[in-house]
Amino acid sequence: MAISEEFLNEIRLRIDIDELIGQYVDLKKHGRLSKALCPFHSEKTPSFTVYSDTQSYYCFGCQKGGDAITFIREIENLDYIEAVRMLCEKAGLNMPEDNYDDTINKKRRRMLEINKEAARFFHNYMLSPKGKKGLDYFLSRGLSMNTIRRFGLGYAPDDWSELIKYMTSKGYSKSELHEADLAKKSTKNDRINYFDNFRDRAIVPIIDLRGNIIAFGGRVLDGSGPKYVNTSDTLVYKKSQAVFALNFAKNGNVGKLILAEGYMDVISLHQAGFTNAVAGLGTALTDEQVRLISRYCEEIILAYDSDEAGKKAVNKAIYKFERTGVKIRVLELKDGKDPDEIIKKYGPERFKALVDGAANDIEYKLLEKRALYDLATSDGKMNFLNDATFILAKLNSPIEREIYASRLASELDVSKEAILTQAQKNKDRKEKRENKVDFGKLKDEIAPKKDEVNPQRPDNIKAAKAEETLISSIIANPDFLKKLENKISSQDFVTDFNRRVYEKISQRILDGLPIDNLFLSAYFTPEEMGRIVKLSNNSQKISNTITECDDCIKVLKQEKNRVKNIDPKSLSDDEFLKLFNKNT
Ligand code: GTP
Ligand code: MN
Repeated sequence: MAISEEFLNEIRLRIDIDELIGQYVDLKKHGRLSKALCPFHSEKTPSFTVYSDTQSYYCFGCQKGGDAITFIREIENLDYIEAVRMLCEKAGLNMPEDNYDDTINKKRRRMLEINKEAARFFHNYMLSPKGKKGLDYFLSRGLSMNTIRRFGLGYAPDDWSELIKYMTSKGYSKSELHEADLAKKSTKNDRINYFDNFRDRAIVPIIDLRGNIIAFGGRVLDGSGPKYVNTSDTLVYKKSQAVFALNFAKNGNVGKLILAEGYMDVISLHQAGFTNAVAGLGTALTDEQVRLISRYCEEIILAYDSDEAGKKAVNKAIYKFERTGVKIRVLELKDGKDPDEIIKKYGPERFKALVDGAANDIEYKLLEKRALYDLATSDGKMNFLNDATFILAKLNSPIEREIYASRLASELDVSKEAILTQAQKNKDRKEKRENKVDFGKLKDEIAPKKDEVNPQRPDNIKAAKAEETLISSIIANPDFLKKLENKISSQDFVTDFNRRVYEKISQRILDGLPIDNLFLSAYFTPEEMGRIVKLSNNSQKISNTITECDDCIKVLKQEKNRVKNIDPKSLSDDEFLKLFNKNT
């Protein structure tokens, strides 16, 4: 922790949390609070709350909360220092240089340098006579020199140590290359041996939104071995959180992004003028990727491969994007296996036509069902209609339901009213099911929950609640601390987490320092900050009196002395007897 109090105070004065969070979500004022749909979990009614009083936020749905720094950490996936730096940029402050140079960030910056140097090596090697094989591969896939340069494509030598040799000559160590996953290591007779991770592969650099090279994908040139070798997660790369080509795509088009499956599809799409194409990174689409993508578009066009795996992926993607509120459309790649092939075979115009004619998510689901049945038979017609009314039942807007019902009616030659009635019935039935008491869920609710932030809480609920009321009271009335000083010390706390919070807060009060959330976030993780913010916004639930604090202290002292639930079988006979006599 290297950020000074004075500097944090600067930030506190310059940053307004409503304005900051308003840059990410659509905040609506509700008296002294603002509310929005939570950016950290999927929801239909807003439970994400921003408090200007305490300059904090809290989501009642997913329990995430914190101060401005915590918010930036969570939404931008940054660590503490990086988040402070970003806030500085937003506030027009200059971050004192020596402040953020702690080891982990130094390491990160060094790893990014390494990646950049390696990318340069792969690219230049591809352009040298020895790398002709790699260049020829990209050219044979129809890529222009311009595209190759724009994406920084390269070729990794057919050799075990060519990259290592080059990088060590530039002053990087083998273990650094290993940490960046550019080198692998093996041990033989107690000797560690390093070798290049990417060998004889076409290289695609993965670039983040700030233009850093964070990882590489390496494709085989022929059919041998796995198709791709990719960088695994490192200090600068989490594949579940990155989106390929978003760095280019985010600057382009009018609120639309095309999501394809493969790197090669995306590169080919960009070359054909669809510079708003992106892809995941070889894993199933994650919630984080969906969140990131939906921040950069109003409409997502799914352009997955036309095979079975692609279709399954489309359904999963629809499900995930539906919760973000972006418009979803699905391309049907009838005459080719993927976007790359369509463009090659029929040209960009055909792909453009497919994009323009792409079905929205409802149309897509209807099309998918329709393909299952023979509509020439009344049996098939009935089955399809049944499925279709279930799809319509999910629509919340009656107007939309009306539109699709009309289309189905004229197509299948049945009355629109019949379709709408059935859809309504399905909807009622579904809602009834949802309202039914689910005992499984209820049991979950009643059973003691695991508490990640304060693991001792479930087993010491009475004490923990007393501790929390105390902490809330002191946060709201720092002058209480002096009055309670002789009655309580941190030793009296039962749960370690609450004790830590109490210690930090009381220490700051005694030192005459402010206890705003912004100053606390240096000492607690984002998850812990969520809990602290909850406590600091608790003022309606406490009476703000010393009497209440006294009561809490009483409870704490009782609980501290409570005979713990001990398993008698774990005791020696002597111990057992002692306990037995005491309790009778
Ligand atoms: P082409 O088939 O040459 O057009 O390549 P592509 O990039 O379009 O790949 P494909 O459609 O087969 O796969 C989609 C994506 O899945 C790729 O871009 C990779 O991110 C990932 N992927 C494919 N094969 C592998 C593999 O063997 N290992 C890993 N880790 N990822 C893979
Ligand atoms: Mn592909």
